[in-house]
Amino acid sequence: MNTVLVGAQWGDEGKGKVIDFLTEESDVVVRFQGGSNAGHTVVVGDKKYVLHLVPSGILHDGKHCVIGNGVVMDPFDLMRELEQVESWGFELKGRFHISERAQMVMQWHRALDKAEEAVRPEGEKIGTTGRGIGPAYAAKVGRYGMRVGDILKPNFLDLVRKQVNEANIKLRSLGALELDAEEMVKLYTPMVAALLPYVTDTIQLLHQNLDAKKSILFEGAQATMLDIDFGTYPFVTSSNPTAGGACTGSGISPRAIDRVIGVMKLYTTRVGEGPFPTELFDADGELMRQRGGEFGATTGRPRRCGWFDAVIGRYAQRINGIDYWALTKLDVLDTFPVVKICTGYKRKDGFVYTTFPSDLDALAQCEPVYEELPGWQCETSHITDYAELPENAKKYINRILELVGGQLGVLSVGPARETTLRINI
Ligand code: GDP
Ligand code: IMO
Ligand code: MG
Repeated sequence: MNTVLVGAQWGDEGKGKVIDFLTEESDVVVRFQGGSNAGHTVVVGDKKYVLHLVPSGILHDGKHCVIGNGVVMDPFDLMRELEQVESWGFELKGRFHISERAQMVMQWHRALDKAEEAVRPEGEKIGTTGRGIGPAYAAKVGRYGMRVGDILKPNFLDLVRKQVNEANIKLRSLGALELDAEEMVKLYTPMVAALLPYVTDTIQLLHQNLDAKKSILFEGAQATMLDIDFGTYPFVTSSNPTAGGACTGSGISPRAIDRVIGVMKLYTTRVGEGPFPTELFDADGELMRQRGGEFGATTGRPRRCGWFDAVIGRYAQRINGIDYWALTKLDVLDTFPVVKICTGYKRKDGFVYTTFPSDLDALAQCEPVYEELPGWQCETSHITDYAELPENAKKYINRILELVGGQLGVLSVGPARETTLRINI
């Protein structure tokens, strides 16, 4: 059984937690896009683990974890994270692999990310994580990127010099500090030896696993509404976090995928800039932020919060072909007397969008159309059996499923591993 798991909203839906849950029945976990802009949290007992580049499956001994060709990987972020994983007591040798085709995020990509963001006028800022993601993907698509396999080449350090000099031209034009090529050479020299043991042809490795009928789990980072093609462009990330990205970012065929799981919060959050139709600026939004601990796992920024948006849910279901939903954070809504679901966006002339518009200016003129349902006003985080959920919580979930399509596979009622209900997968 090969499973692709994707985020349905603007990220931070609880993908890390659900990946951890599904790793139990998988042999290999693969990251296929994004980079250390991701922050995937797994809570086990009283320990909280946050992973940025390393697949969340690493917390299960013996499972193989792969960084696929679609990822942009900052070697320093990775080395720091690998050290941390080892300090937590997990063995990496022989089970952690990096694609030689993955792109590297270099120091100059990070510098460019910050410099480009700094010169964007108010209203045009993206609110990036500053991890160099956009410039690294721009280099990939522009065909001047640096791949992991390049560290094996005898001219690797000359490549570093050439790229620093080219990046300096851009940094200068942005009014940012330039980098010293020889300093970069010194910085990257020891990195080669540290990375080498993990670098391999992961396409071959994945196909060997497919041939041996092993189960592969594809761990999406970011989410549908942050997708470079399908998200709220230009307020998006620079990769395809949607299900198709699992193929292009790992080297497996669409025909190898057996099921797609979408992870979706039972309300909505967004971190960074960009449109968010159901955003709340009142006490309800603040209550969601406090109860949900809605502060970025990568940057610590407070997340913007709002009601559940079924237009987005339906859009994500269609684009990704979501078979099963992992619905998360039900418990965060436990105290609300009324819960709301957005079913459309109403324009001033009365027209209602029921699919997500590409024109963000048109969207900005709209008001969300809400359905109101009674809340359940009792605690759900101790519940281990779906049947025991309060009736109003079931009604809320069922109405959402009716609006977005797909079946309920997993329900999460708290941050910890045990607070995960297997429904239908
Ligand atoms: P990811 O990026 O999709 O992996 O999600 P993050 O880890 O960035 O953010 C999700 C946050 O919600 C983390 O702090 C999780 O520990 C927490 N979380 C996940 N599922 C639940 C849940 O059902 N209830 C509550 N209260 N917290 C949850
Ligand atoms: P996970 O995997 C939430 C957002 C940033 C910014 C935009 C572009 O934890 O769900 P980037 O640094 O990628 O160029 O920033 O995308 N963003 C995320 N928001 N969760 C994430 O990852 C995100 N990764 C990027 O806040 O708005
Ligand atoms: Mg996150």
